[in-house]
Amino acid sequence: MSFRTSATDYVEDVSPGSGALPPRAWYPRSDTASLSLNGSWRFRLSATADAEDDAFAEPGYDAGGWAEVSVPGHWVLQGHGAPVYTNHLYPFPVDPPRVPTENPTGDHLRFFDLPADWDVTDGGAVLRFDGVESCARVWLNGTDIGEFKGSRLPHEFAVGHLLQPAGNVLAVRVHQWSAGSYLEDQDQWWLPGIFRDVTLLHRPADSVLDFFVHASYDHAGGTGTLRVDSDVAGRVTVPDLGIDVATGESVTVPVEPWTAETPRLYDGLLATGGERVPLRIGFRTVELADGLIKVNGKAVLFKGVNRHEWHPRLGRALDLATMREDVLLMKRHNVNAVRTSHYPPHPAFLDLCDEYGLWVIDECDLETHGFTEQAWRDNPVDDDRWTPALLDRAARMVERDKNHPSVVIWSLGNEAGTGRGLTAMAEWIHGRDASRLVHYEGDIDCRDTDVYSRMYADHAEVERIGRALDGGTHRRRELPFILCEYGHAMGNGPGGLADYQRIFESHDRLQGGFIWEWIDHGIEDERYGYAYGGDFGEELHDGNFVCDGLVFPDRRPSPGLLEYKKVIEPVRIDGDGTTVRITNRQDFADLSALAFEWSYQVDGETVASGSLAVPDLAAGESAEAKLPEPPATDGGETRWTVRALLAADTSWGPAGHVVAWGQIPVSARQSPSVAATAAPVSGDGRITLGPGVFDARNGALLSIGSVAVTGLRLDVWRATTDNDDGAAWQSDLRYGELWRKFGLHRMRHRLDAVQVAGDALTVRTRVAPAAWEFGLATDYRWTSDGDRLRLTVSVTPDGDWTVPLPRLGIRFGLPAADRVRWFGGGPGEAYPDTRAAALVGRWESTVDGLQTPYVRPQENGARADVRWAELGGLRIDGDPEFWFTARRWTTEQLDAAAHRSDLTPGDTVWVNLDHGQHGIGSQSCGPGVLPPYQLHAEPAEFTFVFADIG
Ligand code: GAL
Repeated sequence: MSFRTSATDYVEDVSPGSGALPPRAWYPRSDTASLSLNGSWRFRLSATADAEDDAFAEPGYDAGGWAEVSVPGHWVLQGHGAPVYTNHLYPFPVDPPRVPTENPTGDHLRFFDLPADWDVTDGGAVLRFDGVESCARVWLNGTDIGEFKGSRLPHEFAVGHLLQPAGNVLAVRVHQWSAGSYLEDQDQWWLPGIFRDVTLLHRPADSVLDFFVHASYDHAGGTGTLRVDSDVAGRVTVPDLGIDVATGESVTVPVEPWTAETPRLYDGLLATGGERVPLRIGFRTVELADGLIKVNGKAVLFKGVNRHEWHPRLGRALDLATMREDVLLMKRHNVNAVRTSHYPPHPAFLDLCDEYGLWVIDECDLETHGFTEQAWRDNPVDDDRWTPALLDRAARMVERDKNHPSVVIWSLGNEAGTGRGLTAMAEWIHGRDASRLVHYEGDIDCRDTDVYSRMYADHAEVERIGRALDGGTHRRRELPFILCEYGHAMGNGPGGLADYQRIFESHDRLQGGFIWEWIDHGIEDERYGYAYGGDFGEELHDGNFVCDGLVFPDRRPSPGLLEYKKVIEPVRIDGDGTTVRITNRQDFADLSALAFEWSYQVDGETVASGSLAVPDLAAGESAEAKLPEPPATDGGETRWTVRALLAADTSWGPAGHVVAWGQIPVSARQSPSVAATAAPVSGDGRITLGPGVFDARNGALLSIGSVAVTGLRLDVWRATTDNDDGAAWQSDLRYGELWRKFGLHRMRHRLDAVQVAGDALTVRTRVAPAAWEFGLATDYRWTSDGDRLRLTVSVTPDGDWTVPLPRLGIRFGLPAADRVRWFGGGPGEAYPDTRAAALVGRWESTVDGLQTPYVRPQENGARADVRWAELGGLRIDGDPEFWFTARRWTTEQLDAAAHRSDLTPGDTVWVNLDHGQHGIGSQSCGPGVLPPYQLHAEPAEFTFVFADIG
């Protein structure tokens, strides 16, 4: 005897659903009528799938007492229930295809009239859902029209026979959990709801069904060949090309090709008896040739990002403006490719990729990652019962998106293990669309795929793959390589991007990669600023692992994006003191869109500037350009700065937008020199040395001139970053954890001596953690020329240091400081392996402006290569250059904070002047800090000169 009610059996049925029309191409508009059913819908939430019967779907049902939700939207972001974040664990017992009895179920009702000019007697109508998570049953005017799964895929139903001119009732029952949930275990929030558009489309007789635009480019002949296959015969016109052919008929004409760098689209029209559909046609040919991914005969280098759909209030219910913002931000930051991790995006996003120019890996809505916990036993992708659902998903993606020139690769899904179902998907896709390649990272032997793809492989391994020393199956050895995920952008970081890029550029086989990921999925929240996993009381969650993007939840670029922009810039600018070498690193475009400018800096101040004539280099070419005679200067540190700017407004950026830059040092900096002419004077429990006043008992600095200074001492601790902490599954050493174990966050400072001798005050200390025998013998040697105070810190490690240091420098507090000026790297944050974007110059900020607001607070805001800095009435010159950080809270407070809201500014500004910083790496889900960027405990000496500048 069964206790399950058959009325909800479909929820746990492995089949993709019933009642929907076959999938077909999506297009945003045509001349037939359509009615958006977006807006406010009546809403009732139940705790289980079968708590309520289907009476609500009947016309006349009184939903007056129901709540309302916005569609598109997720009910859990509209005050009904709560979101849940897990990385790969299923938040329910794994017993496929069964789901829990507790299955939040949202009944939705929408009442609508047809527009007056909508003729229900002329043809039919289609009801289209662009995305519903995770399973829906639909009734129109009381008639059950079907049910479906496949959250981020479109589903259409023929409804013409059910429509009436007025008083239509659309009822949709949405279940959070279904058999489909097993296929949608992507690392993101679980967010049920009707989260994409709902549209009613008039389908007059003879209107368009499915159509496939085949538009290839022959790079040898410079011609494009167009053929539009259409289920309903009609004509295809492209006025700019003089094309007017029947559907199914091929025509070859000279064209400009489409590429991501030169996204030439031709406006066309598909006209059948009943409908005219605008086409935007891009001619391009994708192929695997000579072991490389080639477009229009040329190998491409992907400088990509993985994009989840995200909005901090709306979740995955993105509007067009937000999608456009993503595309514009990508273009402005030199990104040329997107992997639609891990599902097909809203279809309008792909229109934008066509229009602005981005290569797209379109990924199917499939991930079964949670099965890894049981060694992939019962994985749906290796169980024939699920294959129809997998094929349905593949078809819904390919059919919907096949007419986009931007889509160059289909991806079967993400982290779904291996199995027959995946092979079936690959075979189906290859058969349906031979004009694109197939990708799936989990296919390590490349049995089904056309690209060898990996995630988070470290630099050394990528180098080996580039040199074809990695072995693997015969098939794999013949294929090009991409990193479909790398550079885990969680918190501060990722580090090591420049090192990856150098490797990509050194080996043809390496065709680039896609940063994980585009945006932090923080949820706007009154309590925390932005909430992450665990903030909604979830039973299982993965904390802030969901905040690992290059842009913050509000889409402000994080330093990681600026670093990436610099690392992947399309023009390389380098040289010696007299000439500058310009290299066009693009794959297709020449440099005609860019203008070049030079400027000349003395001690960081620009003293001259002008435009630079650069030949119009073709893709891949380079040339030297002559710099002018440098202006005469009176000593000082000098350098050229050369920038490549947009010469005119483009669709994605204004004239003057900086695309690339380089700096060429000319004469080096002179170290600050301070003669030790003043002598320390003791009295009244104080020692005075020039402008410095010290406590005679312990040698502590009390003031410099009029500026009170507190707590100046050696500092080795930083609030660990997500990358310092590393991911729990990392097998390599994770220093965040080890640093705490070894007590680097609780170092003790033992005073050994305060010595006044000759012109110097020397304070000898030993800095070491409780419980351990290793430490840092640290001497502070103070001298002065009467005006300025000079500190030389000498550090000599003793004992057995088995871990690098987080940082090495001094810290101190200042009573008040707001404005900050410095000469050094800027304007933004930098660390040893994230410093490519630091431009040497003069910069200004407020203390607050120096902070990088990572969603989970952590070490941030260091400025690199600082020669001098001014704040709070002090000027500090470094010898050598130093890392500069200032904040209104201590490192300990920063370390303890879980959300931005935990940080409240105090009265003291804490300043860190660091001789060294440990690199950042990418160990939150990737390799750690590369050896050159590790900060080892070694003897060190560094000097700062302080002056009261009142
Ligand atoms: C990958 C996965 C992504 C994401 C990332 C870590 O393994 O494909 O979806 O989980 O790790 O942030």
